[in-house]
Amino acid sequence: MTGGFCFSGVGSHLPDQVVSNDDLAKSMETSDQWIRERTGIGERRVGSTTTEMAVVAGAKALERAGLDPSSIDHLLLATTTPEYIAPGSSPVVAHKLGLDCGALDIQAVCSGWVYGLVMANGLLAQGLSRVMLIGSEMMDYITDYSQRDTGILFGNGAGAVILERNDSGEGELLAFDLGSAGQYRSILYAEHGGVWQMEGREVFRQAISVMQRSVGRALDNAGLAVQDIDLIIPHQANIRIVEAAWKRIGFSMDNTAMRLHETGNTSAASIPLVLDKALDEGRLFAGAKVLFVGFGAGMTWGTVIVRWAGDPRTLGHQQNRSKHQQNRSNMKVETPKLGRDGE
Ligand code: UT7
Repeated sequence: MTGGFCFSGVGSHLPDQVVSNDDLAKSMETSDQWIRERTGIGERRVGSTTTEMAVVAGAKALERAGLDPSSIDHLLLATTTPEYIAPGSSPVVAHKLGLDCGALDIQAVCSGWVYGLVMANGLLAQGLSRVMLIGSEMMDYITDYSQRDTGILFGNGAGAVILERNDSGEGELLAFDLGSAGQYRSILYAEHGGVWQMEGREVFRQAISVMQRSVGRALDNAGLAVQDIDLIIPHQANIRIVEAAWKRIGFSMDNTAMRLHETGNTSAASIPLVLDKALDEGRLFAGAKVLFVGFGAGMTWGTVIVRWAGDPRTLGHQQNRSKHQQNRSNMKVETPKLGRDGE
């Protein structure tokens, strides 16, 4: 569509503290069985901060890419939960990672990382060499874990990728579709200092319909058919939303990557968290057509289709990962110590 790119580094991070469905059942009238059957979620993580998780995920992506922080030309941070209203969290994340480039927060809630992918592609087309794109969320900051509808859904986490310009034609963004419908703001929102308020059934209904429409538009833009897509990575909100949308679109769960059971809904972090796992599982290959689709509060939604380049730094992820783990076990890992305010 413009110049090509590869994903030269991918990394993710989940905080240590696990909240199981049984834990939630102690403070609200629910059960592990109900949550699993109605959402597909088994547990979620809480704790840490947007900045801290973004820094850990970003550092892993840099390490896997074998890149020096000074080689990154721009940072995009998709987050719904920056530590401050102003400034955004991205300048602090850039500073902690040792980047001295431009840094911008993207607020498109659960669609933020998909929006960021399109923006990153545009920056590369403007001549930049490498853009780091992170999704990081401390959803526990705006979730009331005693509320039955939202309390079962949300969790914390971060995922980071480095997009590197590559004009070989191997990897590129094939098509995208982005959309919004602000008339639906009231079905899912959080006020300043407040927690999520949601009309669950309406969000459920709208999510299926916007995913169907957006995926259809992106496939049309790319001149591709449903069966041309090798791997689908959807926003992780509710397995029933994905299954219902796929039934309408004609996608199969077999080539759909999910991580919902262990993360819950991590908003803008959910897609890169799944991507990292899909790489670990060897689900990406040179030339694979990968479709990312997100939706969320706003409402906003977006679909991006890319052709995956055969960059050995990410295709060799699995081997790199075991090497990385071996190295790590031999050294003390310094986790950045940050307060809730990201300082
Ligand atoms: O990024 C976007 C973020 N948001 C979403 O994706 C949310 C989309 N919506 C949903 O995922 C679902 O609407 C929920 C998971 C929130 C709720 O599931 P549902 O299948 O729509 O349940 P419901 O609200 O229609 O309630 C069905 C029944 C009700 O009982 P009765 O009236 O049939 O006796 C509820 O009281 O389930 C009951 N219920 C629960 N029971 C146990 C509702 N929530 C719970 C719960 N545990 N947590």
